[in-house]
Amino acid sequence: MTAKGANKVATLTDPTGKTIQLPIIDGSIGPSVIDVRKLYSDTGHFTYDPGYTSTGSCESKITYIDGDQGILLHRGYAIEELADKGDFLEVAYLILNGELPNKEQKAGFVKNVTYHTMVHEQMTQFWRGFRRDAHPMAVMCGVVGAMAAFYHDSTNISDPRQRKIASYRLIAKMPTIAAMAYKYSVGQPFMYPQNKLNYAENFLYMMFGIPCEEYKMSPVLAKAMDRIFILHADHEQNASTSTVRLAGSSGANPFACIAAGIASLWGPAHGGANEAVLEMLGEIGSKDKVGDAVKRAKDKDSSFRLMGFGHRVYKNFDPRAKIMQKTCHEVLGELGIKDPLLDVAMELEKVALQDDYFVQRKLYPNVDFYSGIILKAMGIPTSMFTAIFALARTVGWVAQWREMIEDPQQKIGRPRQLYTGQTQRPYVALEKRG
Ligand code: SDX
Repeated sequence: MTAKGANKVATLTDPTGKTIQLPIIDGSIGPSVIDVRKLYSDTGHFTYDPGYTSTGSCESKITYIDGDQGILLHRGYAIEELADKGDFLEVAYLILNGELPNKEQKAGFVKNVTYHTMVHEQMTQFWRGFRRDAHPMAVMCGVVGAMAAFYHDSTNISDPRQRKIASYRLIAKMPTIAAMAYKYSVGQPFMYPQNKLNYAENFLYMMFGIPCEEYKMSPVLAKAMDRIFILHADHEQNASTSTVRLAGSSGANPFACIAAGIASLWGPAHGGANEAVLEMLGEIGSKDKVGDAVKRAKDKDSSFRLMGFGHRVYKNFDPRAKIMQKTCHEVLGELGIKDPLLDVAMELEKVALQDDYFVQRKLYPNVDFYSGIILKAMGIPTSMFTAIFALARTVGWVAQWREMIEDPQQKIGRPRQLYTGQTQRPYVALEKRG
């Protein structure tokens, strides 16, 4: 194949000598793409890319990642600036609408989200059907999917107004649903959202408030929670976002699509890694055991991996991990907490980053490596870590879902395959089978 700069085409020659020209399309920044949409009709060949390591599934204007430089931009703004100077709902507005809101737009958006935070009272009955020890992500999958059984006035995806209402409902109600999952697991009453609180404060209140006394809000924890939400808001075409886009491409209602995203995020290779990191650090137990863990992680015969390490795109530091590490020290310092797991995490990072195995494979800490230590310091149980990831990522899922629906090139996603199974063969009667 010779990619020609001038005509911006890639020429493909197959074994029969047949050549075809495939257009090369440039983005505003980042890798160009070779447009293979005509490849099968012109050559009879499919592309083959399990795990989509070299495949662009869509055009998007929302998030840009440069994995080599460790850059993450939302609508052109660096995550470092957004995490430092913005707040979650402002970043949510940016991701959804493409621009930072002015004062009036921000006030309107915050009001809209605030006044959608309650769930339909009848939905509380769902929890009666769950076991108290149900994983919060199982509850989130079920309850979010069931929102389609309540909010019939925002399931028509062809109506922009209904798409907008569904977006607000999902962003607004996820903290309420997540907190309800936690309250149910500890046998405490659900706490209703308080309109006087901001998004992060409201979540902490619904998690830790009780009817018997006034909840004392910690500004440090609320700020840290808001920053954790920002760091998890969106991340290009990751597994769960791609799941939401694929589900949405069939015209499924937004609540069903987000429930599909929650299911995909739950996996330990994806959003479930933050929970797995805490379990791993606990299993390692102390700094002097870190060397053994690194050895096990390198052992091909062992399925053990350093959870919170490695990334499909980042082959440098995940910029979110750096911000999370800084926040970790701030929160533990403010709370006067000395968590031995933080010492284990820092020793693990130090040892791994000096080890050839990790250096050669460009395995660095990712967003999940430090988040769990902060959440644990905030008193949040490990089982809730991925639910918090899902809560924040709902902004990205909704924005990407809306972008997909509004994309004129959008069609139902329907990949093909490389078939290596049996060729056609005749049916064998039961009595004649071996
Ligand atoms: C998230 O895509 C996103 O953007 C996701 C996310 C988001 O915001 O949406 O960033 C959130 O999911 C972060 C990732 C959380 N997952 C983990 O921390 C789980 C541990 N890490 C991995 O399992 C792994 O690194 C992945 C899944 C994250 C990426 O896997 P890839 O890109 O498919 O890479 P790979 O599995 O092919 O690994 C390449 C090599 C392999 O070794 P070799 O076969 O070349 O010898 O690196 C090794 C792997 O064995 N490797 C690891 C490792 N991760 C990769 N070895 C030890 N420990 C690890 N963590």
